[in-house]
Amino acid sequence: MTRDRAIRTVHTVAALRAQIQGWRAAGDKVALVPTMGALHAGHVALMAAARERAERVIVTIFVNPTQFAPTEDLSRYPRTLEADLAKAEAAGVDVAFVPDVGEMYPEGFCTIISLAGPALGLETTFRPTHFAGVATVVAKLLLQALPDVALFGEKDYQQLQVVTRLARDLDLPVQIVGVPTVREPDGLAMSSRNVYLSTADRATATILYRALSGAAERIARDGKVEAAVEEARAVISAAGFHLDYVEARHAETLAPINGAGDGPIRLLVAARIGATRLIDNVSVPTLN
Ligand code: PAF
Repeated sequence: MTRDRAIRTVHTVAALRAQIQGWRAAGDKVALVPTMGALHAGHVALMAAARERAERVIVTIFVNPTQFAPTEDLSRYPRTLEADLAKAEAAGVDVAFVPDVGEMYPEGFCTIISLAGPALGLETTFRPTHFAGVATVVAKLLLQALPDVALFGEKDYQQLQVVTRLARDLDLPVQIVGVPTVREPDGLAMSSRNVYLSTADRATATILYRALSGAAERIARDGKVEAAVEEARAVISAAGFHLDYVEARHAETLAPINGAGDGPIRLLVAARIGATRLIDNVSVPTLN
C-alpha cells in the first residue's frame, strides 16, 4: 500500500532533474542534503539548516558501495527507508532522491576521483579507498541536482574538508556548508553506527568526546599540543578502545601541525570498540 506524502520520492536522475527544473522556473533556491539513510537527529539538523538556506530541500538516500572496502559493513549498514522518509518529511524536505545502485553506477561505470590534500592520512590510513568513493558519489549527486547549497555534518570532519576542496577544485557551482555535530546528552556524537554498540560499549563510548574536549582545553591553556594528544590517546586506550588515531591537524587543510601556533587546530579521533568503529572531532579554542 502506498501512502500520500507531502514529501515526494524519486528514483531516477531524470525525475530529479525534472522536479528541480520546475523549482528553478519558479525562482526557488535549492539545497541538497546527501545521506546514506538511517537518519538521526544529526541529519535532521542538516535538513533544518538546509531549510533556512533554500526554498526547496532535497535529501538523497543512497548507501554508496564505492566508499566501503570489501571488509567493511556495507551489507549490514542500517537501511530504514520508511522511517527515513517520515523523518525527512517532518523536517520539511520536499524531495527524497533514492536511486538504486544501477542508477548511480550503470554498467561500464569506470570513473573514480583521485584525491590528495585533506584526504591524506587520518581515515585514509585505515580506509584507503573510502574518500575516492565519497568524492565520486558526492560529485555525481552535486552534478545531478546542481543545488545552490549542499550541507554536510562536521561529525565527518575530514569528509567535509574533502568535499569542500572537491567543489572548489572542480568549479562546482555550489556552496558547501558544514553543520555542527549533534550530540547525545552525554556527549556521544550522533551516528548511524551507534545502533551497533552494546549497552556496555555505548557507556564507554562517551570517553571519546570527553578525552578530545579535555585535550582541546589543555592546548588552549598551555599550548602543548603533543602532550595533550598523547594524554587523550592514553585515556581512550585505557577505556578499552582499540585506537586508530588521535591527531591534531590544521582545521582547514588537515595538514599535520608542529605546534599550537600552526592553528586553527582540529583534534580528530577514530577508535574501535567491539565490532564498531567510531569517529569524532572537536575544535581547539584559540590560544589566550
Ligand atoms: O556522510 C555520508 O553519509 C556519506 O559519506 C555521503 C556524504 C552521503 C556520501 O555517500
